[in-house]
Amino acid sequence: MSIHNCKIIELPKISNTQGNLTFIEGSNHIPFDIQRVYYLYDVPGGATRGGHAHKDLHQLIVAMSGSFDILIDDGTKKKRFHLNRSYQGLYICPMIWRELDNFSSGSVCMVLASNRYDEDDYHRDYQTYLHALRTTQ
Ligand code: TYD
Repeated sequence: MSIHNCKIIELPKISNTQGNLTFIEGSNHIPFDIQRVYYLYDVPGGATRGGHAHKDLHQLIVAMSGSFDILIDDGTKKKRFHLNRSYQGLYICPMIWRELDNFSSGSVCMVLASNRYDEDDYHRDYQTYLHALRTTQ
């Protein structure tokens, strides 16, 4: 899998004078069914999250409030995204290393995931991740 398979997805946005509404339907607006939702909040300034890759998991990451950066890495190429809109999400396919940092004060990072939590789905060591990439290609 390459970082070229990862992309910003524009989500539906219903706007009127009373505010905005965005919705996300699994396998409609995003390329997977949603089995889990989690969110990061109260992240201290200067903190880095992530630092892992998932073997099979598909994810959509949305800045529900505030902003943060996501660095994605496929073992060959890297790309940095700045997320700061509630109507945009970054889709990350399996086997992509990611790091999240530069969290603004009060930011909330929501993650939609294609499966329930499974620690066996993680590569938490970068060298092991690179080795897995080499042996599965
Ligand atoms: P982790 O995925 O490493 O967080 P991040 O990528 O944001 O730094 O998870 C941190 C801890 O939370 C780890 O002990 C696993 C646990 N966890 C769950 O129990 N369920 C979940 O759905 C998630 C995402 C994490």
